[in-house]
Amino acid sequence: MYRTHKCGDLRMENVGEEVILSGWVQGSRDLGYMMYTDLRDRYGITQLIFIEENTSKELFEKARTLGREYVVRVKGTVLERKSKNPNIPTGNIEIAVSDLEILNVSKVPPFTIENDTDGGEDIRMKYRYLDLRRKPLQESLMFRSKVAVETRSFLSKEGFIEVETPVLIKSTPEGARDFVVPSRMNKGQFYALPQSPQTFKQILMVGGLDKYFQLVKCFRDEDLRADRQPEFTQIDCEMSFVTQEDILNTFERLTQYLFKTCKGLDFGKFPRMTYDEAMEKYGSDKPDIRFGMEFHNLNDLAKGKGFPVFDSAELVVGINAEGQAENYSNKDIKKLTEWMQRPQIGAKGLVYVKFGNDGSVKSSVGKFYSEDDLRAWGEEFGAKKGDMLLILSGEEEKTRKQMNELRLEMGTRMGLRKPQDFKPLWVVDFPLLEWDEDSERFHAMHHPFTSPKKEDMERMMNGDHETMKSLRADAYDLVINGVEIGGGSIRIHDKDLQSKNFDLLGFTKEEAEAQFGFLLGAFEYGAPPHGGLAFGFDRLCAVMMTGEGAIRDFIAFPKNNQGRDMMIDAPSLIHDEQLDELCLAINLPDED
Ligand code: AMO
Repeated sequence: MYRTHKCGDLRMENVGEEVILSGWVQGSRDLGYMMYTDLRDRYGITQLIFIEENTSKELFEKARTLGREYVVRVKGTVLERKSKNPNIPTGNIEIAVSDLEILNVSKVPPFTIENDTDGGEDIRMKYRYLDLRRKPLQESLMFRSKVAVETRSFLSKEGFIEVETPVLIKSTPEGARDFVVPSRMNKGQFYALPQSPQTFKQILMVGGLDKYFQLVKCFRDEDLRADRQPEFTQIDCEMSFVTQEDILNTFERLTQYLFKTCKGLDFGKFPRMTYDEAMEKYGSDKPDIRFGMEFHNLNDLAKGKGFPVFDSAELVVGINAEGQAENYSNKDIKKLTEWMQRPQIGAKGLVYVKFGNDGSVKSSVGKFYSEDDLRAWGEEFGAKKGDMLLILSGEEEKTRKQMNELRLEMGTRMGLRKPQDFKPLWVVDFPLLEWDEDSERFHAMHHPFTSPKKEDMERMMNGDHETMKSLRADAYDLVINGVEIGGGSIRIHDKDLQSKNFDLLGFTKEEAEAQFGFLLGAFEYGAPPHGGLAFGFDRLCAVMMTGEGAIRDFIAFPKNNQGRDMMIDAPSLIHDEQLDELCLAINLPDED
């Protein structure tokens, strides 16, 4: 028998019992005449004690050979500890070991396997099996497992059926690059891995499945960030005969159910905000509404007073950092300005107005504006004594984005973004199309199957170029704490409208037919009105557990920033024979 108990089980009521435990040696302290060893498994840590005078010399010497991460089985008696450890559940007891079996030895691990490790990212990824022994990672994966179980339970009860869609498919347009797989049997041809099962789930609706879901791997070749991985998981859903309202309600209830069952938290109705309002007030389509600090447009108040920078700007916009006037010296403002001027943000400068506790008003543009002017700005914000306005100006879209960064930074500095304060938000009424100046083309803001709002359909079919920029879609995102958790839309189910959309997106008839002919064909056989959404499952788990969108530790085997799996060392070269078989002539750059 390997164990009668797990390493997190034993308490005072077990004192006197003879038990068997198995696990990994976390570390030992050798005091000469006795030795403490911490034994760890998934369930916790139990202290083992070897006392020279109470055990055989042989056992004591064997205990001394134990290295970190050795795998052992011990038999012993549960004792009450003299010096208790209130930080762990087993901290009141220890095991006086009478029998020790070394089940396996271990090399010295390259980093400390404790809650706070000393390992860097890449080394932890290379030795992921060691990192996975750490409690924070195990807790993340257990949490993920629980969220998956509860998701399946909720959606099944709601009548959704889980259907697996293929992984070897052809390009699905979600805006990233495809990963492709060469076909041996169809030489020179490639499958693409799904960026999402979008087209398949729509075809399932044509197939009459009515309510579909899948916890599904998606693959996107895009630049990686903390909240993005090249392969990630979605809770992917589609429903027939539904309106946007039905979908938002269903997935609001799913989110509420998950927070209730996995975190014990209750939520009321989620607020909603249009895309336009989000951009106007927060400069972002995924605003963090844990705190206010909304943007105020100062064009009317600040332009035309002789300050050339503001006069020539498309937008002058500010936020009020409440109570910060006395906290920011000139030096601090300079540092903040430099932070805003980094290439990642690219602001040209930063203007401040401080309303001192003593009633004074100070500003970096004081020589262009009278005190009355500055006080009028303060009134626009409802600023009080002690508040500080921060103002940016420039081209509208860029300035809003920069202000978004500043708002989030100030929110963080002011402690307003508490990780366990959850603020969900639906952002609705996204634009249908996005005009790209560089390529002089429209792009689908969500994807090409997204339906314009009913009231915009006529304008879409008959309007001019400018009209197309103002079309709104039945498209929506769920945002929690500034992280985009998921998004979806009502789909176009009419062939003519879909053709028009492809046309606007710059697809020729032939291209549309070649890429999506199967879907357009399916739409000719009685496609029901349908819509759906997908949550990023990794992000949902990360945000629910940590309040942030960093997903790496919620994926058992993630890739690093270069898209590499450091443990298995992938991607890697393949043999020439394999290349030949796949008809892939690869010309690697010369090494010189
Ligand atoms: P979208 O492209 O918005 O929609 O993706 C849905 C959600 O998936 C998550 N996500 C990612 N998570 C981790 N790493 C990535 N690289 C990554 N990319 C996306 C995000 C995102 O909100 N087919 C549509 C959904 C629909 O219309 O039904 C789709 O995939 O949380």
